[in-house]
Amino acid sequence: MRLPFGLDQLEDRAREHLSRGAQGYFSDAAYSDAAGLFTTARENEAAWQHWYLRPRVLVDVSEIRTETSILGTPTRMPILAAPCAYNAFAHPDAELAVARATAGVGAIHVVSTAASKPPEEIARAAAADRWFQLYSDIDAGKTDERLRMAEDVGFKAVVLTVDAPVGAPRYHGYPEQGFGPVATANVLDPGLEWGEVERIAKQTDLPLVLKGILHPADAILAVAHGVAGVVVSNHGGRQLDGAIPTAFALPPIVGAVDGQIEVYVDGGVRSARDVMRALALGARAVLIGRPYLWALAIAGEEGVRELFGRLCDELRNAMMLTGQVDVASIDRDIVVPRPGSSYASPER
Ligand SMILES: Cc1cc2nc3c(=O)[nH]c(=O)nc-3n(C[C@H](O)[C@H](O)[C@H](O)COP(=O)(O)O)c2cc1C
Repeated sequence: MRLPFGLDQLEDRAREHLSRGAQGYFSDAAYSDAAGLFTTARENEAAWQHWYLRPRVLVDVSEIRTETSILGTPTRMPILAAPCAYNAFAHPDAELAVARATAGVGAIHVVSTAASKPPEEIARAAAADRWFQLYSDIDAGKTDERLRMAEDVGFKAVVLTVDAPVGAPRYHGYPEQGFGPVATANVLDPGLEWGEVERIAKQTDLPLVLKGILHPADAILAVAHGVAGVVVSNHGGRQLDGAIPTAFALPPIVGAVDGQIEVYVDGGVRSARDVMRALALGARAVLIGRPYLWALAIAGEEGVRELFGRLCDELRNAMMLTGQVDVASIDRDIVVPRPGSSYASPER
């Protein structure tokens, strides 16, 4: 075991392996000040705990399935590696280590437009089905080049990030310009709107997922625009600070899309119980960000492999303890809001 016994110790342990700049960059949230008031980033983690698990018992749980498919991509677990820029800040093997580790455990890796390593090299690192996260560029030609690359390299889906028409002020550990192959901070597209989503969808045969949806009305528009899935996300609290935590944004969005497209969620998922909560609230899968960056910093490829392996083992355990046998059909009524929570069932 290379990671700390308790996965809640990951961030502390990772600090021993990271420069101050890298620590700042990974843990940073929008507008975070010296006092560390990372509001949305912190609330993301806390909000999952507002959902109590209400287990079923006396169910035969001797056979458990964590395998599922996500947009047709088979996966051994409903946990994806979220697209995170500049993995080289954590470890010199960067995204190559993440690619090998996720391929080894059968989890889907969503590769960032702003990865430290070129996508072709990441794809060569390990044979696996993976997705590409797209930042649309002010220059549509560049966006299209990225799309063609994603197809040529063999990515299985395109995840367009829609919560970053501009970067939010972040005060810690910005990567130096030119650290990765693509500098996004000054090329994000403030003109990004539904017309561009349609244009992008026409440019590619790959399924298109929108990442950064928090409002049910936008989820309904996503369905109307032929999108294949949405990621309920506030960018891990790195964009609009004060944004609704994703554990609370998820249920009304699941209700709004009513099974027409797949819904995923990220932000503050820190344990297999959080994964259970997300699935029970209607997510098809979750993405995790910072935890795998910390695991990468602590022990490279092995660390990331261990993290996903442990989360999957713990998920299997949580399924057994809640009387759930198939990850693709977790009962909705095994989560209930804490008494007094205003996010109670009517919207669900
Ligand atoms: C260091 C870092 C870099 C990120 N880079 C990207 C990126 O390039 N593209 C993107 O869509 N999201 C990016 N994100 C957001 C993640 O994809 C994800 O939404 C978020 O990390 C989930 O929250 P969590 O870190 O609490 O798990 C980044 C997050 C972190 C922590």
